[in-house]
Amino acid sequence: MNVARKSGTRKEIRETPSKMFYNILFLLLVSYRATQALENGLARTPPMGWMHWERYRCITDCKNYPNECISENLFKRTTDLLVSEGYAAAGYEYVIIDDCWLEKSRDNVTNKLVEDRYRFPSGLNHLADYIHNSGLKFGLYQDYGTHTCAGYPGVINHMALDAQTFAEWDVDYVKLDGCYADTATMDAGYPEFGRLLNKTGRPMIYSCSWPVYQEYEGKIPDYEALKQHCNLWRNYDDIDDSFESVAKIMDYFSKNQDRIQPHGGPGHWNDPDMLILGNYGLSYDQSKLQMAVWAILAAPLIMSNDLATVRPEIKAILQNRDVIAVNQDPLGIQGRRILIQKNIEVWARPIMPRNAAGYVFY
Ligand code: GLA
Repeated sequence: MNVARKSGTRKEIRETPSKMFYNILFLLLVSYRATQALENGLARTPPMGWMHWERYRCITDCKNYPNECISENLFKRTTDLLVSEGYAAAGYEYVIIDDCWLEKSRDNVTNKLVEDRYRFPSGLNHLADYIHNSGLKFGLYQDYGTHTCAGYPGVINHMALDAQTFAEWDVDYVKLDGCYADTATMDAGYPEFGRLLNKTGRPMIYSCSWPVYQEYEGKIPDYEALKQHCNLWRNYDDIDDSFESVAKIMDYFSKNQDRIQPHGGPGHWNDPDMLILGNYGLSYDQSKLQMAVWAILAAPLIMSNDLATVRPEIKAILQNRDVIAVNQDPLGIQGRRILIQKNIEVWARPIMPRNAAGYVFY
């Protein structure tokens, strides 16, 4: 039975048994498809936050580098700075631990992942609480293969257990890298981990490195599948602290825009990697360029820098409300390079019309 509205009156429409059968079948197919996809309702605009990798890499020596090592202390300090320096108010939300947070082996009784006991002495639940109590969200790195890129234990063969552990640790964002893995199994394995994350009942943004490892091997990633199963994905090489690296990524995204650009959108974003503004490699103008192009690309705005030492003029770029508004535009259409002539490039992106005060017209 179906109920329709006609000129403000309710009218009952009786269905024949066969029509009902097809309707039920349709609903079953729709819900089957929904359980096959991620459908977590997250990342309707590109995620914003901070991640340690580009700036701090895999520094684990806290004796000699107490302020730089990957530790509870680094993430607490960064959380405090995100709030006190105004980044949180500008929209930067996720505090993400990248590689090198684990012990070198799993717990030998439970098989669970274990955080490095020396560098994270209070445990990840404590850190998650700290981040959450500051009004921010907690992200964590893992790897689909046998090991993470830096050689710590990966999720393969323990996917259900690890998804559950992530939920128990109150994780809000998972970056799943793809080192030490067979790329041929990724088309099935990455969606499987996404389903297991979903099954925990805890909403977690799912960032996949699945396509970049396939691209390395000359395979064309299945972007339709990526859109269904991941909230964002890395397409290309790691960013370094140099303009050359930013330019290389821009080049890749523009040369391949016909096959990449259409797939970005609300809930599923292409990821050209971290914002490196505030480090050593970019001049003031180059910093503006990275911020502008990442806004046009509808890229996740995940900084990797030392928030205690970012110069005021660079902080102003990172917190520029107008540029952030372009990045976070609700239409979620990724921009493109529309002209290249000699050394001049023009990049553009359609956004929702706004009034003079900057409010979006819905
Ligand atoms: C890969 C990823 C980087 C970072 C490192 C960590 O290279 O692409 O973003 O996560 O691994 O080892």
